[in-house]
Amino acid sequence: MSIKIGLIGCGQHAFMAILPSLQYTPLELAAVADIEEHAARRAARMYGAPQVYTDYRKMLAEEELDAILALTGEQFHPQIAIEALRAGKHVWIEKPPAPTLSAMEQMAQVAAQSGKVAQIGYMANFFPAVRKAKAIATTEKSFGRLTAFRVRYCGSGAPRPKPEARPMLLTVAIHPIALFVHLGGGAPQTLYCEEGPGEYFITAKWTAGHIGFIHYTQNRSFKSFDWEVELCGSGRENLFLLNGDHLRYYRFSHPRPVPGKKWSELLPQDFTTDLDKAPLFWEPSFDHSLFANNILFLAGYVPELQEFARRIEEGHTEGVNDFAFGVQTLRVFEAFMQPSGQVVNV
Ligand SMILES: NC(=O)c1ccc[n+]([C@@H]2O[C@H](COP(=O)([O-])OP(=O)(O)OC[C@H]3O[C@@H](n4cnc5c(N)ncnc54)[C@H](O)[C@@H]3O)[C@@H](O)[C@H]2O)c1
Repeated sequence: MSIKIGLIGCGQHAFMAILPSLQYTPLELAAVADIEEHAARRAARMYGAPQVYTDYRKMLAEEELDAILALTGEQFHPQIAIEALRAGKHVWIEKPPAPTLSAMEQMAQVAAQSGKVAQIGYMANFFPAVRKAKAIATTEKSFGRLTAFRVRYCGSGAPRPKPEARPMLLTVAIHPIALFVHLGGGAPQTLYCEEGPGEYFITAKWTAGHIGFIHYTQNRSFKSFDWEVELCGSGRENLFLLNGDHLRYYRFSHPRPVPGKKWSELLPQDFTTDLDKAPLFWEPSFDHSLFANNILFLAGYVPELQEFARRIEEGHTEGVNDFAFGVQTLRVFEAFMQPSGQVVNV
């Protein structure tokens, strides 16, 4: 099944990540719109859109579209998403989905009433290694239940204290927050933030008992754009992730205590472990035919758009990064924006 889409906002991100990802999905580019005509024309020429618009409302009225993708910036996303949903279109919008929690709540309400698929481009939740880790943490019996996790993420822009830094934090820190909410299984109950120049430690506790923290730093080399994630389970196992393509699974391998024996006597003499208890290293399988485009998959762009198409085809409105999830991310963001050094109820 081909799904006819109109793409709104033909800027840098559309060019670098979203338009080139479409070729791996059943999404068919029927039209593009941008208030800057040259940007829309360039996208149409390079990515083969038959129709070009400078007004997305005209595009919605004239084209028989199944869905829209919007990459314009959070100040425009709510209006575009609501109008498209009311016009009977499925909607995919880039992060940040909205400038405020109340705008996001309104969007989620319209999405729920529309019966259409509404999804946000929090692409880290579609990193192959994140999906694999989430699957292990939620289904592997020996992992037990999630007890704690941490996310380290590098920001950009000039270090400024809250709330001056709000626009930059909404654009960039919303990434680890979305991952936090995804891996934590929803928004936490309470949140506490400590801040230093260009540094934020955000700790949180969930009603289920697990805890987590984000280290968001702007003090780093531009060459060090590493996402580092670790999850610990009650089965005394842990998962360590680096970016979208590297996952280590440390399985239970503690010697059991034996009365009268010292710890050192219980350890293997050569300090190796049985292979069936050794850590597992996992990476996505690479194929030469897609070698040049690996990043589009590893950074989650192709998988998130494939998921959007799958939900449209199967009529599933609920799922990862839906608008209800967006509300939870904005709730956490607003709690993070409260003055640092105090416990905030999310
Ligand atoms: N997930 C990611 O990895 C990632 C990376 C970069 C950017 N983004 C997000 O993608 C979005 C776009 O970012 P960008 O870097 O491409 O910005 P950009 O400024 O390069 O592009 C935005 C485009 O939208 C157009 N536009 C603005 N308002 C419009 C409207 N009402 N109708 C039609 N066109 C309109 C602008 O003319 C511009 O061409 C932002 O929300 C950003 O946060 C996500």
